[in-house]
Amino acid sequence: MTEVKIGFVGAGGNARGHMGRLAEVEGATIVAICDIVEASARDAAVEHAAEAYTDYYRMLDEIEMDALYVSVPPFAHTDAEVLAAEAGLHLFVEKPVVLDMEKGFEVLEAIQSAGVLSSVGYQLRLMDTSNRIRAYLADRQVAMMSSHRWGGLPGTPWWRVMDQSGGQLHEQTTHQLDLMRYMTAAEVVEVYARYDLLAMGDIEGITIPDSQGVLLTFDNGAIATMVTSPMMTAGGGKSDINILLRDQIIGWSTSQITVTGTPAPELDGEPEERPHIDQAFVDAIRVGDQSLIPCSYEEGLRTCDVTLAANESAATGRPVRRCDAGRQRVGGDGQAGAAEDGVGPASRSIAPAWHDQARGAGFAPQPALFA
Ligand SMILES: NC(=O)c1ccc[n+]([C@@H]2O[C@H](COP(=O)([O-])OP(=O)(O)OC[C@H]3O[C@@H](n4cnc5c(N)ncnc54)[C@H](O)[C@@H]3O)[C@@H](O)[C@H]2O)c1
Repeated sequence: MTEVKIGFVGAGGNARGHMGRLAEVEGATIVAICDIVEASARDAAVEHAAEAYTDYYRMLDEIEMDALYVSVPPFAHTDAEVLAAEAGLHLFVEKPVVLDMEKGFEVLEAIQSAGVLSSVGYQLRLMDTSNRIRAYLADRQVAMMSSHRWGGLPGTPWWRVMDQSGGQLHEQTTHQLDLMRYMTAAEVVEVYARYDLLAMGDIEGITIPDSQGVLLTFDNGAIATMVTSPMMTAGGGKSDINILLRDQIIGWSTSQITVTGTPAPELDGEPEERPHIDQAFVDAIRVGDQSLIPCSYEEGLRTCDVTLAANESAATGRPVRRCDAGRQRVGGDGQAGAAEDGVGPASRSIAPAWHDQARGAGFAPQPALFA
């Protein structure tokens, strides 16, 4: 079996989970681990018999590898991905892939130019429950969806700082949003969000909202709400996705599907075990097949685009249509130039067509329809 040599940027809690799973994947070898905290890099390197680094420029220069995992907080995605792609390394990037879309476009361009494989840590796409619902919805009209994530506050200090994590929706509840996109195969065209900090203001250093409500419109017409909060610090909580069709509510969880209303025999039965996301990445590298990876960088970036749009909506108090945001960046005619709203020259953008063109052409809000 061909050996796949892997390096890491970031050796925190999540990276250690990937390392543990990779250690069980036949033929996968962790060769080098970088973390700006020397002890974290060293401890992980000792456990996996790898080289430890605190500087990934040196690591990428000195160590021969086939793939790089980047598992750092959202604000810390700088140039590791571009350098790795340019060096021909396949990339596994943790979600959310960026805090700033322009950085994401740069990484996407580097990945596409180099022709390397890419994976983002949206592992819920691999679940049997997710895939059975996706197949079931393929020829059905979804009307509405709702999702909760009411959980606790992670201990990592950057998580509670808005400029570092992007807040819970962007950092964590991104999983639910990504799954809504995946299960319905539909794109979000409009986002309206309201945020507040209502009950956790006593927590030192907190600048993220503790109450986030989002209204989404998809290009198949479906309307969805997401409500998310890290307020359940003493444990417990609620995490779900519900999908409404005519005479039917489908409830998703990792371990089961519930159906209320018209029975759906296709969704009955115990979920099957599927390969985990690290196994899928290594398998894909061995045969050079991107289709074995459940979420590419581009797909991950599209999900990121929506949660950043929600942050923009909450900040401005206005709905954000993604195609409008794209036009403002590149100019109304699709060329780099003055922003459409006349606020000033737009920055040069390498936004791909899916970001700039009206997603879901044919979607036309009709505010007067039910007046
Ligand atoms: N897919 C999932 O289900 C899942 C689960 C947990 C976390 N995550 C994601 O993984 C990422 C990391 O989360 P975490 O919980 O491991 O955080 P963490 O704080 O435990 O670890 C982050 C590590 O990155 C290191 N780091 C920061 N900047 C660096 C740099 N420039 N070079 C090298 N190392 C650097 C830090 O020192 C730290 O050790 C986040 O984006 C998070 O959302 C994904």
